[in-house]
Amino acid sequence: MRKAWWKEAVVYQIYPKSFQDTNGDGIGDLQGIIRHLDYIHDLGATVIWLNPIYASPQVDNGYDISDYQSIHPAFGTLDDFRQLLDEAHRRGIRVILDMVLNHTSDEHRWFQESKKSKDNPYRDFYIWRPAKNGKEPNNWGNYFYEGRGSAWEWDETTQEYYLHNYSKKMPDLNWDCPAMRQEIYSMLRWWCDLGIDGFRLDAINRLQKPKGLPDSTRPCAPPVNPYGYIVDREMCANQPGIHDLLKELNREVFSRYDIMTVGETGNLTSVKALPYIHEDSHEINMLFHFEIAKNAHLVSVPEYKDIQKRWADVIRQGGWSTQYLTNHDSPRQISRFGNDGEFRVESGKMLAMLSHTQPGTIYVYQGEEIGMINVNFPSIEYYDERYTVGKYHSMVEQGVDPKEALEQLKMMSRDNVRTPMQWSSEQFAGFSDSKPWLSVNPTYTEINVQAAIADPASILYTYKQLIALRKEHPVMVYGDYCPVMEQYENVVAYTRAYEGEKWFMIFNFQAAPQEIEFPEELKGLTERALLMCNYPDHKARTLRPYEARIYKIS
Ligand code: GLC
Repeated sequence: MRKAWWKEAVVYQIYPKSFQDTNGDGIGDLQGIIRHLDYIHDLGATVIWLNPIYASPQVDNGYDISDYQSIHPAFGTLDDFRQLLDEAHRRGIRVILDMVLNHTSDEHRWFQESKKSKDNPYRDFYIWRPAKNGKEPNNWGNYFYEGRGSAWEWDETTQEYYLHNYSKKMPDLNWDCPAMRQEIYSMLRWWCDLGIDGFRLDAINRLQKPKGLPDSTRPCAPPVNPYGYIVDREMCANQPGIHDLLKELNREVFSRYDIMTVGETGNLTSVKALPYIHEDSHEINMLFHFEIAKNAHLVSVPEYKDIQKRWADVIRQGGWSTQYLTNHDSPRQISRFGNDGEFRVESGKMLAMLSHTQPGTIYVYQGEEIGMINVNFPSIEYYDERYTVGKYHSMVEQGVDPKEALEQLKMMSRDNVRTPMQWSSEQFAGFSDSKPWLSVNPTYTEINVQAAIADPASILYTYKQLIALRKEHPVMVYGDYCPVMEQYENVVAYTRAYEGEKWFMIFNFQAAPQEIEFPEELKGLTERALLMCNYPDHKARTLRPYEARIYKIS
């Protein structure tokens, strides 16, 4: 297996809007990130990934870009960004940017031009179609359940519809347009020339739309849109032609720099992964699949094991993988996969030990390292993000009781991870001096960075230890992965082996204790072989709730 810095990396994901406010407007900013670089360095992370920081009307918190080459004023200036880049590099931390190439904001200059007339030079940068029988060109529904639900918006001036898979404020770019592609490539090179270290590529497997934009024929999951639009995310995923586009992106941009690329690829399982990420494909380095962190579905432990096994095979065949349990689009991992009550600390440590010993590049989302949990907002007015709000109104409109609708949406809301970072027990959690743009999670009085630093038994130190171990033991990065003890449904156990070093990990992925029998080759395991455990003491054959152990057996 080829070695690479991005395989060894631990990436710390920062949601700039919610990380640290330094100018008292209730919105996080770039100076706030600079303020905490020592904290990130101390944690051990080697890369930071910033969610979009570009000029944007903030309809979707920056995923609606109105100018790719300037910074959103609430976050700061290009000089602030240059300073951030320098300060990060000085500490040995690389910086990767979130790049949104599937769509722009409707306030982007290209779209403003595009909608002026059918013969405007920018017309083809977006996807325009005439009405079909007086209606939208097809039955696609937008992913945000916005408005009446269509993925098409009528434009009076030119009497045509434009496509927007997300918000109507986020028109899809037309990747069949060579002039548009050239603009994108030179913009990406501009960022690389500035010294950034890579890109997280938003919705990257959706750039190529299906030829002819046919109707979706897949039945829509409930609640069915009353207007007949179908939210079918498969329609634009992994379409023929996508690999040619990515190869071109790689040729024109990625291959010219020493950068890392990670694609966000919904609707993709391990089966379709290799062409994107195989070493010889020359497309992208790795991708975020949603097999574990999929919306609205809680994987079982056997499913989890099956998924990890399949992705370990992808690596064996020349690809690479990512390990994450949460990001800015999914709930807090302890609330989702662990236990955010009695076993918050134990399960938080277990999930960390599990992720960090699985094969792939490690991603830590801000606040995960101190065990932040989901928020329990009392009403819809507290929520901000498009998906929760759109879906709520669509459900209520269809007769679902408002309270019930909220209950159903709470667990998976993306705002669970977007509440301000909890730095201390001071007002507004030390995030800002004034009221934050999104309410603070009331748990901040207990769960915060200051308290975590003061407590040697906190989750934070488990992360620090794991990240430090990764730097010392290549087996955590390059080790071959082999599942063991598969007969226990809720236990995850495996070995990793690399150049004579062998580790064995075992996790009780449930709130109940579990008796286990070690296989012959592991029976002789001694205390001395134990590298880490999330309980201060333990009994050899009984696993406590969420108990996790890492042994170095050779
Ligand atoms: C990706 C982002 C998400 C955003 C969407 C549209 O899924 O992660 O936050 O809403 O793309 O850009």
